[in-house]
Amino acid sequence: MKPNTPIYIIIVAAGSGSRYGSALPKQFCQLCGRPVLMTTIERCLQAFPQAKFLLVLSREMTDFWYEQCESYGFKSPEIVDGGDTRWQSVKNALDKIYPPGIVLVHDGARPLVEADVVKRLIDRLEYGDVAGAVPVVPVTDSLRMLLPDGTSQAVNRSEYYAVQTPQCFDLTALKRAYSADYDSRMTDDASVIELTNNGCIATVDGSTNTLKITNPGDIAIVESILAHGKA
Ligand code: CTP
Ligand code: MG
Repeated sequence: MKPNTPIYIIIVAAGSGSRYGSALPKQFCQLCGRPVLMTTIERCLQAFPQAKFLLVLSREMTDFWYEQCESYGFKSPEIVDGGDTRWQSVKNALDKIYPPGIVLVHDGARPLVEADVVKRLIDRLEYGDVAGAVPVVPVTDSLRMLLPDGTSQAVNRSEYYAVQTPQCFDLTALKRAYSADYDSRMTDDASVIELTNNGCIATVDGSTNTLKITNPGDIAIVESILAHGKA
């Protein structure tokens, strides 16, 4: 990395966790005795201590988060108010930062960030031929495509990857991409870049440890990965 290139890390944690189904949004549920989000932030900090962090939270959860930080003696990054969609939450954080720089956008619900993956992302972006780099892992389930008549058809799984976060971008390109209107196909930041014609996206190897807590039971899986010392 060029010396003095500013690095920003946006952690989006303003979702309600509807699929997880607990009264408390999943990112505040307990993982190894403290809120999930604390592990996410701590691991991002370990990977990039010199980065500037922005934590996106829904306004209703901000006081609760500050209380949790006080109870656990945890220093919170600067908070940004979230929006109704992940896209809006990322956009609100991007509105607070200015180029030049590299920005990593990460899901608060993915606690097991790995420093090796972050390094691969930044090295790939710095090669200079792409607007962003994303971590991917092979898909393990078989895949079927839904057809307009309601039937479905098997597709070749080896042609697909599952995409994770953190995703890494040139800040100018990502801000430009987020200045366009929202489209429901924008499910991650790389898709925002592509759907707004703001450059190409490279892939690097991700890690199966960086799973996103989505359904009930996923926190227990993350705890088991940690207990076995695999992450
Ligand atoms: N997120 C956000 N703002 C939103 C929606 C999502 O910051 N309006 C964040 C979530 O908190 C999470 C990440 O984006 O860290 C990935 O989203 P997802 O796993 O879908 O979380 P939720 O939207 O909270 O869960 P669900 O879709 O099950 O409701
Ligand atoms: Mg969601």
